[in-house]
Amino acid sequence: MRSPATGGGAPSRTGLPAVPRSAVVMGVGGWLPPDVVTNDDLAARLDTSDAWIRTRTGIARRHVAGRGTAVSDLAVEAGRRALASAGGPAVDAVVLATMTPDHPVPATAPVVAARLGLDGVPAFDLAATCAGFVYGLASAAGLIAASVAERVLVIGAEVLTGIVDPRDRSLAVLFADGAGAVVLRAGHDEPGALGPVVLGSDGARDDLLYIPGGGSRARAGGLPAGTGGEFLRMRGREIFRNAVERMAESSRRALEAAGWKTGDVDRLVAHQANARILAALGDELEIPADRRPSTIEHTGNTASASIPLLLAETVADGRLRPGHRVLITAFGGGLAWGATTLVWPELPAGH
Ligand code: COA
Repeated sequence: MRSPATGGGAPSRTGLPAVPRSAVVMGVGGWLPPDVVTNDDLAARLDTSDAWIRTRTGIARRHVAGRGTAVSDLAVEAGRRALASAGGPAVDAVVLATMTPDHPVPATAPVVAARLGLDGVPAFDLAATCAGFVYGLASAAGLIAASVAERVLVIGAEVLTGIVDPRDRSLAVLFADGAGAVVLRAGHDEPGALGPVVLGSDGARDDLLYIPGGGSRARAGGLPAGTGGEFLRMRGREIFRNAVERMAESSRRALEAAGWKTGDVDRLVAHQANARILAALGDELEIPADRRPSTIEHTGNTASASIPLLLAETVADGRLRPGHRVLITAFGGGLAWGATTLVWPELPAGH
């Protein structure tokens, strides 16, 4: 159950304390903006239909941030709920996974920390697309293992509707807005402790999901303004295949490192990209449908927010309970992916 980064226990050769510290989940919260867009709403302005969207993606509706709402607004709401669920502890670091920051510069995490009353704590953004939350867990575990922090707030938050061309029917039906968060504390081998975290990337396939404009590559190449370069582009079928392969492979490695078999998994908490990807992944891992909770029908794909949103919702409605053995896995553009395990703990403030 211990992460390689936090394991150990060998006698200190330096005189410094050699204390094995796990990162232990102690709170979870999610926030969806109130405005909802149904498939019929989209079909009223795009050449698509409720039947097509449901069949190909499993999505029926999605929440969208209204005008004037930025990603920090969603992140603060989710962060507040996670901190309350953890019993309101002092947090000494904030990691914000997002691909839709408030501004290119500066990072959004310090703004979120300040608005949560956490002025002065280290706070940084993490860019790993839809795998951002799992990368965020690994970063928090590292901060705790290195004694940079005792308690870390990890938030995944996105306003993906801002980077999707509203005229692009293939992407506008998939991506949506939301935020979720967990609080992790220093601990040992106990319920809530993250197991070994497996991460990976493949930058040779960066063309499968990307935004051409807005960065130094576009400036170097002189991408003309107004050519749609500010919007997300995706090769859907290849993303689909890679998502299933990479999540299955990293899940198997995380399970093996934890000493678990797929039959031990009570809840598969996978990035909510699309219902067909989730079904293919579950079938590939032989984890039955009743152990694969999902929010995709009412959230769409919220990238780095999807896993903490799923955790928060399933804790609240009782689908995820203390003692459940949880496998977490995610995949996104980059390409980037990851997986980890934990036994779900009792939370200080319940749900
Ligand atoms: N409504 C109606 N038709 C649509 C449509 C929509 N919203 N979006 C695309 N189509 C059309 C296409 O234009 C294409 O038409 P054509 O055959 O005339 O060219 C047809 O549907 C089939 O498109 P295709 O892309 O081959 O469909 P698909 O079965 O692969 O499903 C996705 C498309 C996007 C749903 C699917 O590829 C997918 O889920 N990919 C993964 C996306 C994802 O999860 N990304 C994030 C990962 S983190």
